Amino acid sequence: MSSSNQLPAHANPGLGSQPVRRHHSARYYAHRVRESVATRVSKLVCSIFLFFLLLIGVITFILWLSLRPHRPRFHTHEFSIPAIAQENGFENAQINFNVTARNPNRIIGIFYDSMHVTVSYDDQNVGATSLLFPFYQGPKNTTILASSLSGATLTVNNQRWQEFLADRSQGRVIFKLDVTSRIRFKISSWDSKHHTLHANCPVGVGPDGMILLEYKDKRCPVYFS
Ligand SMILES: *[C@@H]1O[C@H](CO)[C@@H](O)[C@H](O)[C@H]1NC(C)=O
Ligand SMILES: *[C@@H]1O[C@H](CO)[C@@H](O)[C@H](O)[C@H]1NC(C)=O
Repeated sequence: MSSSNQLPAHANPGLGSQPVRRHHSARYYAHRVRESVATRVSKLVCSIFLFFLLLIGVITFILWLSLRPHRPRFHTHEFSIPAIAQENGFENAQINFNVTARNPNRIIGIFYDSMHVTVSYDDQNVGATSLLFPFYQGPKNTTILASSLSGATLTVNNQRWQEFLADRSQGRVIFKLDVTSRIRFKISSWDSKHHTLHANCPVGVGPDGMILLEYKDKRCPVYFS
């Protein structure tokens, strides 16, 4: 019994040295735990940061999709040059047009500077006028651009008129109406920079000088420069 009692006592010195080592390893483990907690915290912070970055990206993308400005839409409703129907109409010829500009955006407004309208035939300018009304166009609003070209704004010479009449005898005279304006988009109190807008509307008139059905209410291609 005493010998068996002595054995643990004998082992005591060994055990006595262990608490030192255990103490050391406890500190070691505590250090490692602290380290892994630090790693986990930094990983968490990183994940949260990346999550918010992704969230901001998604929100920005959705905002961009809904706030992205759409270009205005132009349609030709009327275009006529009644004098074409008369043999001697050249003297008091007049071109009438009615084009609409629509802002298709839901939130974005558009500022238009003065508009310049030119009418060309066979790539030659035959008339030009300015619609001198800078205006603001609210979302989903349509503005009528209707005017006439005659006298000084109509630069048709007799030779060109003969070409019109030659085309008339073929059944149609084709013109091109171009609208140019400098525009700015407006979202709330923020204004975009200026963009120069061009709308190119091909229009054809019949022998009566009135717009042909196939050109009526047609959408004009719009581009920026
Ligand atoms: C121009 O056309 C639009 C659309 O068809 C029409 O509502 C408007 O009354 C016309 N305006 C003029 C001045 O002809
Ligand atoms: C379009 O603009 C005109 C002129 O500013 C305004 O009187 C009209 O109420 C607007 N229409 C719409 C649908 O916003």
